[in-house]
Amino acid sequence: MTRIISPSILSADFGHLYDTVQTLNASRAEWIHFDVMDGVFVPNISFGFPVLKAVRKATDKLLDVHLMIVEPHRYVSRFAEAGADLITVHAEAEKELAATLRLIRSCGVRAGVSISPATPVETIEQVLPLADLVLVMSVEPGFGGQSFIPGSLDKIRRLRRQIDSLGLKCLIETDGGISAANIREVFDAGCDVAVAGSAVFSADPISEIEKLLNA
Ligand code: DX5
Ligand code: ZN
Repeated sequence: MTRIISPSILSADFGHLYDTVQTLNASRAEWIHFDVMDGVFVPNISFGFPVLKAVRKATDKLLDVHLMIVEPHRYVSRFAEAGADLITVHAEAEKELAATLRLIRSCGVRAGVSISPATPVETIEQVLPLADLVLVMSVEPGFGGQSFIPGSLDKIRRLRRQIDSLGLKCLIETDGGISAANIREVFDAGCDVAVAGSAVFSADPISEIEKLLNA
């Protein structure tokens, strides 16, 4: 069973980003989650290529780039060049989802597809064979620090059954409102990768990551 923690640096102190990444390098978090927001797909704006390049230089961890932007196919190759190892696009943000997942893979990086809380699992069934990861949003995308939506657990269970019955290797990631209080339920539902922002950065990241892994 895979149980990976992907700390979201959206909740980090950007005045000390390099030091934060060094701290994560010393932690048992295997991935680093990088939230890109365009102010159109979500009502918030975060960071983009220059910051990703700086994080890339500072770490060998897997860089898990979550694009909350409209028509992400326009920027996939630039995020790959900037150092992403995995690029996840939202099903709601892209008309030609299958083509975009193929495009991501053609850039030599892993391809992920995400669904927001109101989007049913059926929306992405067809593209599962083209995806290396499915990201189930357990809050409305746009902001850290929100509460986990309990209905997300059923979506994870359902996806787990589908992925296993089709014999696919696709990982399931869950993002939003995850803490030591609920991470066990999330993993038990069939999630492989848990994103955590405020839970990791509200205190000492190394010990908070330990708490998440030992919960
Ligand atoms: C929300 C982002 C999340 C967010 C998670 O749109 O995709 O990655 O940073 O933060 P927490 O763990 O605080 O909900
Ligand atoms: Zn995210």
